[in-house]
Amino acid sequence: MENKDWKNIGFGYSRSDYNVRCWYKNGQWGPLEISDSEHINMHIAATCLHYGQECFEGLKAFMGKDGKVRVFRMEENAKRMQSSCDGILMPKLPIEIFNEAVSLAVKKNMKFIPPYGCGASLYIRPLLIGTGPEIGVKPAEEYLFMVFVMPVGPYFPEGFKPTDLLIMREYDRAAPQGTGKYKVGGNYAASLIAGKEAKKGGFSAVLYLDSKEKKYLDECGPANFFGIKNNTYVTPKSDSILPSITNMSLIQLAKDLGMEVERRKVPVEELESFEEVGACGTAAVISPIKRVYDADIDKEYNYGTEAGPMSTKLYEKLRAIQDGDEPDVHNWNTIIESI
Ligand code: PLP
Ligand code: COI
Repeated sequence: MENKDWKNIGFGYSRSDYNVRCWYKNGQWGPLEISDSEHINMHIAATCLHYGQECFEGLKAFMGKDGKVRVFRMEENAKRMQSSCDGILMPKLPIEIFNEAVSLAVKKNMKFIPPYGCGASLYIRPLLIGTGPEIGVKPAEEYLFMVFVMPVGPYFPEGFKPTDLLIMREYDRAAPQGTGKYKVGGNYAASLIAGKEAKKGGFSAVLYLDSKEKKYLDECGPANFFGIKNNTYVTPKSDSILPSITNMSLIQLAKDLGMEVERRKVPVEELESFEEVGACGTAAVISPIKRVYDADIDKEYNYGTEAGPMSTKLYEKLRAIQDGDEPDVHNWNTIIESI
């Protein structure tokens, strides 16, 4: 195993030994290839470079107390990548290739998986790019799918400590009928300026409102939003947010815990009535929120400086399943055998 200060590693890139690649050429997916290079050699007119033909995923592997390695909800990430492929006209990556490539990338980099109980995990980044040259705006004929991995700590340095969110109406992350529901690079480029403003002001992320009416909550930068009140888990329904797999899992766990669940439009003013608020995603897991500041009307909503009881319960439940400490009753984990 690598020797690192596991408790203090942040969320950042680091090199692992191998990555996995698969080319799509002449209308067909080729075999999986293993590479030890961090670089790719690409045509200057590749569509990913010019017209944003790129989609990616993010998932994690965890080392259990029992020494088993579990990848969380691989199948769902594979399905979401297929939806992104459809969204920007890339050939649909077969689920089996996604699963095999992720498993292989983890197996080839076992020594980078952080030890049980240290709070870090192995982040897995699959991505698919248009590599074929085009100069007219149209889909490429050649593509490259890749999977690389790295150990990471929490996305927000605070970890499971509450942070602040910022509402601003002058920036949109995605258009109402646009690509917000796909995990494509362009959405993230579009969010950089607003994200920078938020960080400058000491906020962990932007809480975007719907870009058409600016009346409803959308999502929080790289994570979905949820609020809790009266034993009910409430999360926005919107066509321009990414369908978060963490959120989908928390919805199930909330039901398992006997909570009601509502997925619906959430008016901004409803922030007033939530007892607890959080951001959720693979990288962030649950990031509890202590304050939402609406900069345009200079109004703040406060939720206390400690994570609330329901968010804590949901977080602990989810993490226990990921670590293999609790039975995986919904069959969310894939166990990766060493080579
Ligand atoms: N929303 C956006 C924009 C994201 O980038 C992510 C991260 O993947 C999420 C939400 C959370 O999704 P998931 O829980 O599937 O990681
Ligand atoms: C994730 O949560 O996996 C993400 O992709 C968020 C961010 C790093 C883009």
